[in-house]
Amino acid sequence: MDQDRNRERGGNCCSCCLSFIFTAGLTSLFLWLSLRPNKPKCWIQEFYVPALNKSLNSKLNTTLNFMIRLDNPNRDQGIYYDDVHVSLSNTNTTTNSSALVANYTVPQFYQGHKKKAKKWGQALPLNNQTVLRAVLPNGSAVFRLDLKTHVRFKVVFWKTKRHRIEVGADVEVNGDGVKAHKKRIRMKKSDSSTRLRSYFPVCVLMNLLVFFAIL
Ligand SMILES: *[C@@H]1O[C@H](CO)[C@@H](O)[C@H](O)[C@H]1NC(C)=O
Ligand SMILES: *[C@@H]1O[C@H](CO)[C@@H](O)[C@H](O)[C@H]1NC(C)=O
Ligand SMILES: *[C@@H]1O[C@H](CO)[C@@H](O)[C@H](O)[C@H]1NC(C)=O
Ligand SMILES: *[C@@H]1O[C@H](CO)[C@@H](O)[C@H](O)[C@H]1NC(C)=O
Ligand SMILES: *[C@@H]1O[C@H](CO)[C@@H](O)[C@H](O)[C@H]1NC(C)=O
Ligand SMILES: *[C@@H]1O[C@H](CO)[C@@H](O)[C@H](O)[C@H]1NC(C)=O
Ligand SMILES: *[C@@H]1O[C@H](CO)[C@@H](O)[C@H](O)[C@H]1NC(C)=O
Repeated sequence: MDQDRNRERGGNCCSCCLSFIFTAGLTSLFLWLSLRPNKPKCWIQEFYVPALNKSLNSKLNTTLNFMIRLDNPNRDQGIYYDDVHVSLSNTNTTTNSSALVANYTVPQFYQGHKKKAKKWGQALPLNNQTVLRAVLPNGSAVFRLDLKTHVRFKVVFWKTKRHRIEVGADVEVNGDGVKAHKKRIRMKKSDSSTRLRSYFPVCVLMNLLVFFAIL
């Protein structure tokens, strides 16, 4: 009698322990799934080159003026941006080679949940002529804007490791010196960039391992 009861109690304890481990495992899995951060979305919102504005009648102001927009798509994570390196280039259609026009750096900053950051930049070209020569026979010019940075996500109390962001897009500038199409331009991952590796908290793995080991 006593032995049976003991065995029963032992079994209860074991299944209780199992269900605790299972629940804890599931909970952390769901927590991880809901807290897993998404990379920011990057856009070119504005672009203006005064030297290419025909009605200005002056080609002296060769600055490249632009606004990039960075959206934090996450409801539960803030984003720490390292310095954001912007480089502007132009493809020589004769030689089919890409030449750097200018560089610009947006200083590091923090962005809260679901926030949109609009950053104006003004870049001086390394060589004024590269800007003026960029105009195509049809009167428009195409520049490429590449953006490079690293971000850390703020998840509740801790910061994740750095994730690389490397995106870019072409922007067409018309005879008024502005972005030819009103719509903002989504910057896409450049070929060389790596995918955001998801991080999987060790505790979840351990928990599941323990669970399956007991099973
Ligand atoms: C181009 O220059 C003209 C003349 O100064 C000015 O009125 C116009 O606003 C400029 N265009 C842009 C897009 O700034
Ligand atoms: C060049 O144009 C930009 C944009 O309109 C303006 O902010 C800047 O002051 C101008 N620079 C000079 C030297 O005129
Ligand atoms: C320019 O170079 C790229 C890459 O080398 C090539 O795929 C493309 O066909 C070239 N275009 C022209 C017009 O030569
Ligand atoms: C411009 O930026 C690119 C990429 O960030 C870098 O490789 C290059 O050395 C920079 N050039 C200058 C002149 O700052
Ligand atoms: C570009 O043009 C500006 C304004 O005319 C001038 O001050 C500057 O020295 C020029 N820079 C180069 C690298 O040619
Ligand atoms: C393209 O390269 C050719 C040959 O080097 C040069 O003559 C031409 O001015 C360049 N065009 C541009 C837009 O830089
Ligand atoms: C001008 O030519 C470029 C390159 O061929 C093209 O991408 C652009 O759409 C043209 N722009 C207009 C307004 O036709």
